[in-house]
Order: sequence, then structure tokens, then C-alpha cells
Amino acid sequence: MALQINATNPEHPALLLELPWHLPLEEWPEKYLVPLPRGISRHVVRYAHTGDEVIAVKELAQRPALREYELLRDLDRLGIPAVDPLAVVTGRTDPHGEPLESVLITRHLGGSMPYRSMFETTMRPATMHRLMDALAVLLVRLHLAGFAWGDCSLSNTLFRRDAGAFAAYLVDAETGDLHPELTRGQREYDLDLARVNISGELLDLEASGALHPSVDPIDFGTEICARYQELWKELTRTSVYPAGKHHYIERRIRRLNELGFDVAEMQIEHAPNGDTVTFVPKVVDAGHHQRQLLRLTGLDTEENQARRLLNDLESWMATQDDYAPGDPLGARPEVLAHRWVREVFRPTVRSVPPELRGQMDPAQIYHELLEHRWYLSERAQHDIGLDTAVEDYIRKVLPKRREPLRPLEE
Ligand SMILES: Nc1ncnc2c1ncn2[C@@H]1O[C@H](COP(=O)(O)OP(=O)(O)O)[C@@H](O)[C@H]1O
Ligand SMILES: [Mg+2]
Repeated sequence: MALQINATNPEHPALLLELPWHLPLEEWPEKYLVPLPRGISRHVVRYAHTGDEVIAVKELAQRPALREYELLRDLDRLGIPAVDPLAVVTGRTDPHGEPLESVLITRHLGGSMPYRSMFETTMRPATMHRLMDALAVLLVRLHLAGFAWGDCSLSNTLFRRDAGAFAAYLVDAETGDLHPELTRGQREYDLDLARVNISGELLDLEASGALHPSVDPIDFGTEICARYQELWKELTRTSVYPAGKHHYIERRIRRLNELGFDVAEMQIEHAPNGDTVTFVPKVVDAGHHQRQLLRLTGLDTEENQARRLLNDLESWMATQDDYAPGDPLGARPEVLAHRWVREVFRPTVRSVPPELRGQMDPAQIYHELLEHRWYLSERAQHDIGLDTAVEDYIRKVLPKRREPLRPLEE
């Protein structure tokens, strides 16, 4: 059988041909390899150079290699964070003509680390909780897409800390299965496997002395299930709202925030019977909102104010016609953010008379207006709108302030 390379991108086969396919992966000379940390695996996995890219090469039988390749392509199509499949190489033979196993090639996920390498650096428990949250987000997103992982574990996940966000990526799809929709039983089975695997992996780390003494492996396994359930419930609750009901959306965002999750993306679909809103959650680091708001808008605020302002910005963006996250033809977030500053943020702040603003800067004022709108809308059980909130704030809240005005403590 001749060597055959199935690849997604036509550039790859030529580059891949330069690798020593006639040798078992374990015997590849150093010059081809890239010494980066790897997680525990059943198969032989190595990182290699091709052109200016680093690839991960995994040796396994032809059928599972092709299957995993297809599943990873499906996940990519569904927008799930997972490693990128590049190619499958089949028909390998050694110099004596003896067959060698096929390989699956994925793009090395830059900036990612296997959990052992991360935890070995005596990671703080707070950071570990955030990583588990990121894994819960991944599992929920997989399940929402109809993917039963079949072997969710820390070894089959890659973690990345990126611009203040924690993200978990699926690295091993071999045991996975894609369905139109998962049953509750399928999800619970998957979740139970995750719990057992994760507790087991953490117990191993504990035995080797690499775990922070305050981390209980069993509790962590249970925690991930609880976080998953909370998030699942929040994301799948019935969500058909009367058109344009900003308050319902804000309530859901706030609930996600209270659970400790942020909104990475939001989509509003209009239909005659109401709007359906879907959220893609994410997990972020302390200080992330402040940096993100500063980057997008130039507004420098405290962290909790930044989070509220970003929520407002995100909800507003979702109403814009050219908002298309991930689509190169859509407007860039920076562009939308500047439009928001120009069309929403500034005019709103300007409607508060300067003599009433005291020492509050524009971002603080806007934050207070958002809080006031939230408070009034909760009381009214519907969205009272920003204009009404501003008017009420000027009329009732500001006059009661004693000079000098200070931002409200939260
Ligand atoms: N694309 C990739 N980027 C970064 N690391 C990878 C990649 N592919 C594999 N790895 C590393 O190799 C390890 C084993 O890969 P995996 O697919 O889980 O193999 P196995 O099926 O044998 O368990 C992973 O835990 C990860 O550390
Ligand atoms: Mg694996």
C-alpha cells in the first residue's frame, strides 16, 4: 500500500512529505522533533516541525485515525474549542516493507499546556478552580452541540490562559460520538466519567506531591459536576422573550456572572413569537474586564464597573446588523465598541448635567445609570429603558447626594 496523506489544506501534504514516515514515531530523529511537554497518552505522540508550524503526531490504527480526524473536523465546524485536525497519513511501511501504523496530525495548540505541567508549578487553588470552570464550559458546549466525549479527563484536555481568559480545549476525540442531540442519560454518563477521571488524575498528582495541599481530589471531581449542572441549567433555560426585551437578557447575563461565568458571545434570533437568545460562556481571570474595556474603548474603570459596561456593550453589539462574531466579514469588535462609545455611552453621559456629576467620571456615571436601570426594571418587572432610567436618576438620585459626590460602593 502506498503512503497516502489526507489533508484539509493542500499546502500541508508537500511539507508533511519531508517527515520520516518510514520510521516508527518512537524512532524519529531529534532533528524533526520539538521538545514541548505532553500529557499522558495511550498512543505514541510527538511534536514535529513542518515549515514554520509545530504539529502533534499521534500514531494509531487507520480506522480510529480517520474517525478522530472527521470528528475533530466536525467540532471545528461547530465552533467548539478543540485541536485543529490537519491530516491523516496511512499506508506507511518501514524500509523492509513492513506496515506501520497510521498517524493523525493536529496543529500544536500554541500557548497550551498539559495539566501536569501546569499544576507542577504549584498552582494556586483559585487558579485551579478557574481551570475546572473552563473545563465545565467545554463539556457544556460539547453537550449542547450533541457531542458525547466518552473520555473527558484532564489528560484529554489542554488548558490555555490567554488575554486574561481561561480556556479548555478538547485534544482527544477518539472515544467521542456526535448525535443530533444528547439525552439526559448520555450527558450524565459523560459527566460521571469526567468526575471519576479527574478525581483519579488529581489523586495521582497528590501522590506524587505535585498538588497544592488544600486541594481535595474527590471534591474537585464533584465540583466540576456541580459547575457543569449550574451552567447547563442557566444556558438551556427557556429563552423566548418578547421582542427587544433588554431586561430579560440582562437578567440572564447577571445570573451567569453571579455563577462566575462571563459571556463570550451572544446571539439574538428574532422570530414572530419572540426573541431567542443564546450565550457562549467563558471563564476569565481577575482584572480581565478592566483590561478588555480599556483595550476596546479606552475607558479606564474598576473591575466590577468594567464587567457591567462590557455586558452592556456586548448586548448592544448583538443588536447591530454587522455583528458577526468569528466571521471575517463582520465588523471588528473594536469598531463596534467605538460606535457604542459614540452613539450610546457619550450621549447618555452627556444627558446628565455636568453640575450634578460631582467627582464621578463618565464611566462611573454610566455604570450608575446601568445599575439604576437594572434596579427600576427589576421593580417594574420589565425593561424601563435607558432614557427613563437617566431621567429618574437625575431627578431622584442625584439631588439626594451630599457633596462631594462619590461613586456608589458595591
Ligand atoms: N494538537 C496538540 N497540541 C498540543 N498538545 C497535543 C496535541 N495533540 C496531542 N497533544 C498532547 O499529547 C497528549 C496525548 O494526546 P491524545 O490525543 O490524548 O492521545 P491518546 O489518544 O493516546 O490518549 C495530550 O494530552 C496532549 O498533551
Ligand atoms: Mg488521550
